[in-house]
Amino acid sequence: MSGHDQSRAATGQCPATRFYAADDLPALDFDPFFGELLRGERVARIRMPHGEGEAWLVTRYEDVRFVTSDPRFSRAGIVGRPIPKMTGHIVPLDRAISFADPPEQARARGVVAGWFTQRAVDRLRPHAQQILDRLLDAMAEDGAPADFIQYVTSPFPLEVISELLGVPEKDRARARDWAQTMLTRVRDEAAAERVRQTKEASTAYFRAQIERRRAEPREDLLSVMATAEGEGRLDEAETLALTSLIQFNGWHAVRNNISNMIYVLLTRPELAARLRAEPDVVGRAVEELLRFIPHKHGLGQPRIATEDVEVGGVLIRAGDCVYNSYVAANWDERVYPDPDRVDVDREGPPHLAFGFGPHVCVGPLLARMEAEVLLSTVVTRLPELELAVPAEQVKWQTDVLIRGPETLPVRW
Ligand code: HEM
Repeated sequence: MSGHDQSRAATGQCPATRFYAADDLPALDFDPFFGELLRGERVARIRMPHGEGEAWLVTRYEDVRFVTSDPRFSRAGIVGRPIPKMTGHIVPLDRAISFADPPEQARARGVVAGWFTQRAVDRLRPHAQQILDRLLDAMAEDGAPADFIQYVTSPFPLEVISELLGVPEKDRARARDWAQTMLTRVRDEAAAERVRQTKEASTAYFRAQIERRRAEPREDLLSVMATAEGEGRLDEAETLALTSLIQFNGWHAVRNNISNMIYVLLTRPELAARLRAEPDVVGRAVEELLRFIPHKHGLGQPRIATEDVEVGGVLIRAGDCVYNSYVAANWDERVYPDPDRVDVDREGPPHLAFGFGPHVCVGPLLARMEAEVLLSTVVTRLPELELAVPAEQVKWQTDVLIRGPETLPVRW
């Protein structure tokens, strides 16, 4: 009897295996597959277009929190194991924290944690505001219509994260392009080769920067990495992977998330009016937008059960692969009634947009601060900001891992 059959026998459940291809979706539409699962079987059985075998998928808020925080589900367990995947051409960063378990993963994160605390982020806020003001000045000077992403929501997080790390101005466009390549869904071998070359080039670049900091430390995160590596708290591969993850996610995730926030704001005038009338609501609005926006396309990295575990009445066997969707959990109507409504006054437990458990995002406070600075500035400084094209004509990126518009033509 296969592990799957045993699981069924143990619980009397017999979920039909579904095929999930994670095709591109229009605008910010919620994935209908997740909607179906949230209403249907609690723990689904899936196949995907690539990789091997079947996996479990949990979508409910409660189950997602359980699977992502229970130590019997391991990220390290997926390394080298044949599992079902969204793409056949994954080029992972060796020794990245995303593929490690505590305590190794916690040790590596501990090196940078102090740079992403509330205090550290509060200290950065005035500088982030200055960066944003300068970018908005440049857009105003060039005049409408303008692509808000090109002028603001792309360069803003790029400058913030690059300054934190210490990536010089002249190299930032390159770092941005590397992130774009590394974080695009790879469709064929030629694209996989481009990703491999990008990984090589970016790794060599960060290696050289870290060497330079070792010789000449500065007040930046690259210097912190160099010191940690020198003291043996990070090995070489961990240092390079963590540096890349911070630079790439620090730009790419925020670029997309705040562009999506602006799109939602511009397509819901009542939200913009509320923020203008009650500036104190910005913090709550950011949280609600984080919950509402289906940030991740498809599924992130799964986990492997290290022993038999029951989840939602289904027995998951040791060695089984388990995916979860934070996006689905954020739309679980048992927790968030009318999840498709952007409701700034919503009550309820914290959303899972930044993940949960030991792999929770490293930069939530930084990302929140950037979003708050952006939204509060936009509603006061550009009260007339609007899309310069009908909402249906906004172009969205395709083949993405993180969803977001390609451009946001605006006028004001
Ligand atoms: C709105 C913006 C952002 C969103 C929605 C977001 C979301 C997430 C999510 C869902 C995870 C994965 C949790 C898991 O694997 O279970 C993650 C991991 C991660 N994020 Fe973010 N993120 C954002 C911004 C940032 C920023 C600004 C940084 C810069 C430090 C960052 C760095 C990371 C890193 C290094 C990880 C890997 C953590 C680990 O595996 O231990 N992210 N993020």
